[in-house]
Amino acid sequence: MIYIWPKLKDMRQKIVAGNWKMNTSQAEALTLAGELVDGLNGSETATLIVCPPFPWLVSVKAKVASAGISVGAQNCSNMEKGAFTGEVSPAMLQSAGISHVIIGHSERRAIYHESNSLVADKVNIALKNNLSILLCIGETLEERNAGKLHEIIDEQLTEALKSVSAEDFKSIIIAYEPVWAIGTGLTASPEQAQEAHAYIRTKLAAIASEQIAENMSILYGGSCNASNAATLFAQKDIDGGLIGGASLKSEDFLTIARSF
Ligand code: 13P
Repeated sequence: MIYIWPKLKDMRQKIVAGNWKMNTSQAEALTLAGELVDGLNGSETATLIVCPPFPWLVSVKAKVASAGISVGAQNCSNMEKGAFTGEVSPAMLQSAGISHVIIGHSERRAIYHESNSLVADKVNIALKNNLSILLCIGETLEERNAGKLHEIIDEQLTEALKSVSAEDFKSIIIAYEPVWAIGTGLTASPEQAQEAHAYIRTKLAAIASEQIAENMSILYGGSCNASNAATLFAQKDIDGGLIGGASLKSEDFLTIARSF
């Protein structure tokens, strides 16, 4: 019998994740979750994840879990427990049945001054608590124009992943989100995105191993929508998307989920 190895890209998980950011009332969140469940038609080949605001995590999870949609938080604390008013620990998320967490989103880096070192602490504590991580990285327009794209990717990846074991890389999804493309309608071209993703994969191979890097999913984020998702996802190293604005409309999110 001849065994034909699947193409490497096929071994990676295709993932479409929705980052709802600080949007939706409770009623809107549950309506959106319900529409997603009702709208699935079985042709979605990607793993779907939705990341609602903290207060709706558990109720959204109750709505979508049976449809196979996973739920993630948008942030977590770098601390285990204790006197950290307003923080939410990875252990709390885990005990509430939440499987994923976004770490290092550029809005947290820019607005809340999260450093690469804080991002690394969050990655480590989230892994310790058995969460899967959507690790966001990406350059600003200034950095890109200054020719620093690779340098920024190097710094962000090296620092965040420096204490991650080979086994734990299985729990990490990378989201490349060029800051200049987030919420601006300025999507990276498929070529620009592919170039960055290929570079990220090379860097992951250097940090972990070639095999680990080949099996990791690298998602694109930044004005990804129902019209441009298919061309982006057709690129060799783009394994799906982390979607902001377009994830708030069930029809758009489902169209993106079917764009492979
Ligand atoms: P937009 O899709 O709204 O540009 O947001 C992308 C993003 O930040 C996802 O995390």
